[in-house]
Amino acid sequence: MTRIDHVHVPLGARAYDVVIGQGLLAQAGALIGPLLHRPRAAILTETRVAALHLDALQAGLQAADIASSAHALAPGEATKGWAGLSEAVEWLLDAQVERRDMVIALGGGVIGDLGGFAAAVLRRGVRFVQIPTSLLAQVDSSVGGKTGINTRHGKNLVGAFHQPSLVLADIDLLDSLPARDFLAGYGEVVKYGLLGDAAFFDWLEVNGPALARGDKALRQHAVRRSVEMKAGIVARDETEQGERALLNLGHTFCHALEAATGYSDRLLHGEGVAIGCALAFDLSARMGLCAQETPSRVRAHLRGMGMKADLSDIPGDLPGADALVALMAQDKKVQDGRLRFILARDIGAAFVCDDVPGEMLRALLVDALEMRP
Ligand code: GLY
Repeated sequence: MTRIDHVHVPLGARAYDVVIGQGLLAQAGALIGPLLHRPRAAILTETRVAALHLDALQAGLQAADIASSAHALAPGEATKGWAGLSEAVEWLLDAQVERRDMVIALGGGVIGDLGGFAAAVLRRGVRFVQIPTSLLAQVDSSVGGKTGINTRHGKNLVGAFHQPSLVLADIDLLDSLPARDFLAGYGEVVKYGLLGDAAFFDWLEVNGPALARGDKALRQHAVRRSVEMKAGIVARDETEQGERALLNLGHTFCHALEAATGYSDRLLHGEGVAIGCALAFDLSARMGLCAQETPSRVRAHLRGMGMKADLSDIPGDLPGADALVALMAQDKKVQDGRLRFILARDIGAAFVCDDVPGEMLRALLVDALEMRP
């Protein structure tokens, strides 16, 4: 019998559990059934995920006499826009989803964000279950209720806080991920250790390689610890008035790099987060906030995992330092025109900083760009 973990997200009337374990698709009916007012559910997914996991989910629901219909959108970030939202909402209406029904979002971050937002706006809000299929979605985007879409002005600029009613993180689903996608998701796992749990980072240094090779017990521990940390932060600061911003460690750099690489597969989001975390520790060291050797320890772990850790790991051209700073200034986390960074006093000790000296940031980027071949 494999172990199943339940992490509670204590949000009062919006509280829910994240269930983490193996074989959860087969148990989906038993786990979701108690939340339903009538035995039916509407599943939003994408075609690649549907080919791998939709039959198993529908069989798991059917085992508890829950009827389901499903709609598969095109895979990829481009789906997470107005057209994809319209397609999802119109299908949910075609499927006669009522106010008290349940939507299930089966997929990675794109489907979770889009499906959650479609549920948030459908009939002024129907409940939804997240079944994240990527590591990134299991440890980050499926938990915490941020839903939304991209517009031509940028990523995630239209959305809503809409908490799921349940999250099922089935560790078995990670088996079907390409190694690059798994490691990109691991960038978000490392982020949790770096931002608030030094002992977890120590554990990842020891166990990361075996976890990446496929050890399920280690994967489950890493997902559970990440979700526990996210649940704690979200419970204390659901709408990001303060502490939740720590989850954006590495993201100001990452968003600029994603924009500079055209949101293409030159740089996956989690890869940008990993590079961004290393740069955030560089900046912290330059500002005298953390020890000079700490950024090397962060990079040594990323490199040991076979991950990108520097701007020199991004293929193709990058714009210069000034252009990167300008891209950072477009980030939605800019407040009153000031760049916001998450910096750190040590591994596991991150904090929000609104007064990074512009010259220091620029010098850091000039040096990082010079290391490129
Ligand atoms: N991914 C950052 C957050 O959920 O706040």
